[in-house]
Amino acid sequence: MSSSSREDLLSPLNDAAEVLQEKFIDLLPWAIALIVTAIVLQALGPWLWRKAWYRDNTAARRVQGARKAIGDAFGLTVSRVRRDGSIRIAPGETAKWLRPGIEDELAHFLHTPIHLTVREGLVTVKSPVNLPASIQGRPRFSPLSGTLVIGVDTTTADRAEISIREKSGVVLAGKPGSGKTFALKAIKYALREKSFIRTFDGKRDDAESFKKTVRKVQHHMETRLSSGMDYWSMNEESRPKLLVLILDEVQTWFNPASRSKSDKEAAAERESLIRDLIQRGRSAGVLVILASQRITADIIPTGIRDLCGVKVVGRVTRPEDGELVLGMRPGEGDPDPMKANRGQFVVDDEERPLRMIQVYMPRA
Ligand SMILES: Nc1ncnc2c1ncn2[C@@H]1O[C@H](COP(=O)(O)OP(=O)(O)O)[C@@H](O)[C@H]1O
Ligand SMILES: [Mg+2]
Repeated sequence: MSSSSREDLLSPLNDAAEVLQEKFIDLLPWAIALIVTAIVLQALGPWLWRKAWYRDNTAARRVQGARKAIGDAFGLTVSRVRRDGSIRIAPGETAKWLRPGIEDELAHFLHTPIHLTVREGLVTVKSPVNLPASIQGRPRFSPLSGTLVIGVDTTTADRAEISIREKSGVVLAGKPGSGKTFALKAIKYALREKSFIRTFDGKRDDAESFKKTVRKVQHHMETRLSSGMDYWSMNEESRPKLLVLILDEVQTWFNPASRSKSDKEAAAERESLIRDLIQRGRSAGVLVILASQRITADIIPTGIRDLCGVKVVGRVTRPEDGELVLGMRPGEGDPDPMKANRGQFVVDDEERPLRMIQVYMPRA
């Protein structure tokens, strides 16, 4: 075979090889891009997935991503962080999650602020939220459970429930301008349909009409008590309205207007009337809400404070003021009333851990 005829025979093959080569060169960048994407996805996929799954809850995402490291460093077993940030506590590890300082240590370890709440076998991890200076919302009351919602939890931005079930007294204190009057308005709005409400302002209203109204409430309470009422165990249809007395600037009523004997007696009488309503009012569906700038023994008797099942304290300047209202010093990890902004209050309803709540501003 001559060399020319061999070339003729190979030329289609050469052409085909050239085409293939060109195709390969054309596709090469795509292939490389595909491989790089696959590698990147392989590395970033779980992270991207977690980011989408846990949304704004960076703390939950970081804990999920660092489960093993957390186990090694803290001896805490984290099998899975659910979408809401909750983790089932492994047997025998509750005390470890409750250990003072654990929150700060985890935050440092994971390089993100973190808020832990431990309840009924679950620990919930959340990123603290940045709340705007005012939040609009509609205060609500659920008569069946006896829970009031007048704002949101400042660490989670979730609706915050306050239980007034089986309670007859609420104390609310804080510096002037801390938002007490607005908070009272929110409570009044929430309760308006299911209650008969009378409001007094110590700075505005006169002592005589105050005494007359309190006596009337006392009379209703006695009628209810003598009928054997057990208000909170009655079903909703047969239950009469809650009798609510809202007393703003209440210090005026407990302190004598002057040093005269008659003024002192009048103040003592008002104090004993209020004490009686709180002491006996629970099963008659009576609720007294007392607000004042300060809750000290000379302004609001500690005896009355201790009868109140709900204690609420807004911004104060001295730690002992917070303690005077709550009746205890907030522990490690508890919210601090010295850090409360306008409209924010630390709440103890004897049913949940201490929380800080930001009260809704009324919708315009
Ligand atoms: N929940 C709130 N959110 C935002 N701002 C508030 C809130 N409550 C009160 N404020 C602001 O603080 C001011 C003082 O509130 P107010 O209830 O009169 O305080 P206090 O009765 O404790 O003296 C209000 O005029 C309002 O501008
Ligand atoms: Mg006020």
